Amino acid sequence: MDKILIRGGNSLRGEVIISGSKNSTLPILFATLLTDEPTVITNIPSLDDVDTTVLFLNFMGKKAVKKGNIIEVYCSDNYDKEYKHVALHKLVRKMRASILIIGPLLARLRRIGVPLPGGCAIGARPVDIHLEAFRKLGAEISIEDGCVRTFAGNRLKGAPVNFRFPSVGATENILLTAVLAEGKTTIINAACEPEIEDLAFVLNKMGAKITGAGTKKIVVEGVDKLHGFEHEVIPDRIEAATYMIAAAITKGEVTLKKVIPHHLKSVNDKLRKSGLYIKESKNAIYAKWVKNLKPQSIKTEVYPGFPTDVQAQWTTLMCLVDGRSRIEENIFENRFSHITQLQKFGADISVNGKIVNIKGVERFSGSAVTVSDLRAGAALILAGLAARGPTTVSKIYHLDRGYDMLERKLKKLGADIIRVHG
Ligand code: UD1
Repeated sequence: MDKILIRGGNSLRGEVIISGSKNSTLPILFATLLTDEPTVITNIPSLDDVDTTVLFLNFMGKKAVKKGNIIEVYCSDNYDKEYKHVALHKLVRKMRASILIIGPLLARLRRIGVPLPGGCAIGARPVDIHLEAFRKLGAEISIEDGCVRTFAGNRLKGAPVNFRFPSVGATENILLTAVLAEGKTTIINAACEPEIEDLAFVLNKMGAKITGAGTKKIVVEGVDKLHGFEHEVIPDRIEAATYMIAAAITKGEVTLKKVIPHHLKSVNDKLRKSGLYIKESKNAIYAKWVKNLKPQSIKTEVYPGFPTDVQAQWTTLMCLVDGRSRIEENIFENRFSHITQLQKFGADISVNGKIVNIKGVERFSGSAVTVSDLRAGAALILAGLAARGPTTVSKIYHLDRGYDMLERKLKKLGADIIRVHG
């Protein structure tokens, strides 16, 4: 298994181009199942989760071809109706977002069977909100042998759907179904994340009639048919936040190119309050360490609140800021696997339920650490960049799921970092 070796202590300086958003790319790729016409998607990041989704599409009878940061998906309505559950199960286990295959297939095929993704390292992550919404549209749903089986005799019928929590995945899944249902679907308490807006934008390009995406109430008027599209995926706000924190933690100066600054408002507000100099322009953000940072507590919240996907990276930063800070994780019940690993660097940190208490230390010492989920991995890379002495980060396949060219980008900014193939 590959490892990353870091010799910490270098201040990061220079420009970094932010890649396309992982969390936008995946639902948009699943949306291609809604049409038989060709589609072209650009600004695709090179990530294992994207490759897994391409495998999914090809497995379902599509022809998806990735050329650099472009994916073309060609026409075929030859969906595989005899589900090879074993093969599908292998893909589903790799990636929780594979649950998004249900929405488009239910809309087009009505009768499907898809293995459940199950829990993962950051919590139980049930799919009840997704399934309840499909039922509201008229689908019969049962779970047998770890597999979701759906049946809808006729075309699904639009209906009001009220989410008990604004789940990102459930909002996407119901959009991917409701666009081809008969009549009007109103999603109340929908997720407002920018990735939802990007998906709705794509679906509207395909001929869907969606209004309100990006707000808590989304209205979908079903249509009979959807068409091909071309689309450039929005920038990855989580990758961008990670590089800003890298600038802050290494006392550096980094310009992020190809970003949408307002998607990062909650993170930028906290970084500014902490003392980092930040200047935003149309598609770029300049971040510079100018003085010792001040502790800033955070609470993770749904968008536009502070993102749970930046909680681990923020925790690492606060571990090296003099004073006390507090982290409250409100989205996932068990997203703290980085904490024991940060303690190996010398962090003074403890967890109590959903609260993390931190007392900043002056420095970290390099360590040998293991990644157990994607963003925890980013937190450990940041720790290694700031630590004195060598750090070895193992099980980096988690990072390959969500960070495009991580070592290459960090090296270009001046980090002493290499990947060792093992
Ligand atoms: C998406 C993102 C992930 C991000 C998360 C929250 C993708 C591919 N992943 O994940 O990076 O961390 O949003 O911003 O876009 N829940 C239920 N029942 C459900 C669905 C969710 O209880 O049916 C719970 C989950 O267990 C979790 C919370 O709701 O505690 C948030 O989950 P959700 O918004 O659905 O996240 P994902 O779509 O899985």
